[in-house]
Amino acid sequence: MPLHPVMTGENVHLARLRRENLPQIIRPFANLELTTYIGGRGWTASEAEQAEWLDKNLKNPADGMLFGIYDFGETLIGGVDLRGIDYRTGTAELGIALYEPEIWGGGYGSEAVRLICQYGAFHLGLHNIMLKVFGFNVRAIRAYEKVGFREIGRRREAVRLGQERFDEVYMDLLTSTLDLSALRRQIRQLPALD
Ligand SMILES: CC(C)(COP(=O)(O)OP(=O)(O)OC[C@H]1O[C@@H](n2cnc3c(N)ncnc32)[C@H](O)[C@@H]1OP(=O)(O)O)[C@@H](O)C(=O)NCCC(=O)NCCS
Repeated sequence: MPLHPVMTGENVHLARLRRENLPQIIRPFANLELTTYIGGRGWTASEAEQAEWLDKNLKNPADGMLFGIYDFGETLIGGVDLRGIDYRTGTAELGIALYEPEIWGGGYGSEAVRLICQYGAFHLGLHNIMLKVFGFNVRAIRAYEKVGFREIGRRREAVRLGQERFDEVYMDLLTSTLDLSALRRQIRQLPALD
């Protein structure tokens, strides 16, 4: 089935996940390094759990929006989502994972975060997007900072890995800091801005 991108950046598309993506999401979530960054509790997913997760997410919940991250060869390289969307307050929480460690640090993650934040701001009316990240995940923190997220606080020593403890870091972004002009231009009937 052809890919139907919802958002396109310089290196990635965001598009709805497809049933045929199941094989691509099984292996990454058996990798304890990846699941440590996103879960931190020695969790790995079985094929059955991933199939159940995919089925559930092929139909977004009312308070969530999940996109696959695809490279320009249309290979699924990760997932990014907004969850806990509260339309009264214009707030939501963001989560992301790129599946293969080989591509971490290559700029795909910050681009996908920027795209979903722009989408959330323009189409969903979000005003403030927050996220939680483990204090040792400096690559993720840097990626979020590049989009405009700022640290707003820490839950001290709330993460345990082996005998070590780390802070859980809270970050947020005001969507008023994002450039939405490209999205606005996609709606051809909007009047031009001065
Ligand atoms: C977090 C994640 C989405 C970020 O995406 P990414 O494509 O790797 O991030 P980017 O390349 O856009 O940005 C990473 C930045 O951190 C820097 N960086 C990379 N590795 C680093 C390291 N070990 N220490 C410090 N900085 C590092 C990069 O140089 C880059 O900064 P720069 O552009 O100023 O040079 C991705 O790494 C990922 O999926 N990791 C595993 C899952 C995860 O951690 N999810 C987030 C849970 S909160």
